[in-house]
Amino acid sequence: MQISPSILTCDFAHLAEELAFVESTGADMVHLDVMDGVFVPNLSFGPPVIARIRPLSSMFFDVHLMMQHPDRLIKAFADAGADLINFHIESDAPVAETLAQIHALGKQAALTLKPKTPAEAVFPYLDQVEMVLVMTVEPGFGGQKFMADMMPKVRALREEIDRRGLSVKIEVDGGVASSTAPATAAAGADIAVVGSALFNAEDPVALVREIHAL
Ligand code: DX5
Ligand code: ZN
Repeated sequence: MQISPSILTCDFAHLAEELAFVESTGADMVHLDVMDGVFVPNLSFGPPVIARIRPLSSMFFDVHLMMQHPDRLIKAFADAGADLINFHIESDAPVAETLAQIHALGKQAALTLKPKTPAEAVFPYLDQVEMVLVMTVEPGFGGQKFMADMMPKVRALREEIDRRGLSVKIEVDGGVASSTAPATAAAGADIAVVGSALFNAEDPVALVREIHAL
């Protein structure tokens, strides 16, 4: 499976070096967690920070919007350099219109599911997204415990995507580490977001290789 490291637990005083570190591990892309303090009880960063780090890296920017009204800032995130824009189906954005807006700006689109939202919620949109993100923690903070009980949801999504012959990728996010990633791959996930486990790893390159081997 592929790995998308989340920089949420990085040292924000040295963002450029942290981004270079992520790239040096051999990771496939970088996961940027945007939080508004309303949709989730935490704040992180927004378009100005992403725009500043964009010229420093050629990595694919996987942007996860944990915010209300993501539809109001789609253009700002696209202009800042997002390659894929992920927003929550539980947010108050008009879903189909927002997905169309992301595509019209030439970016990939994804829908994200909080733990309590069933897989079926995204079924009507599966032919309008490149990816579905299944949260394996309640969104808001890095370093939380992986929810293994989300695996049936990943499996249900995988079955529906395959049944319809679609090429939608499944990403998992929250508490993913070498101990928990195998279960996500077995359930059918394609991409693992890994935050604290990578930044705290003794051998980050080995961890990336381990995920790739799944
Ligand atoms: C949680 C974020 C995640 C998280 C990942 O709200 O969306 O991307 O920071 O961090 P770990 O891997 O530490 O759970
Ligand atoms: Zn995330």
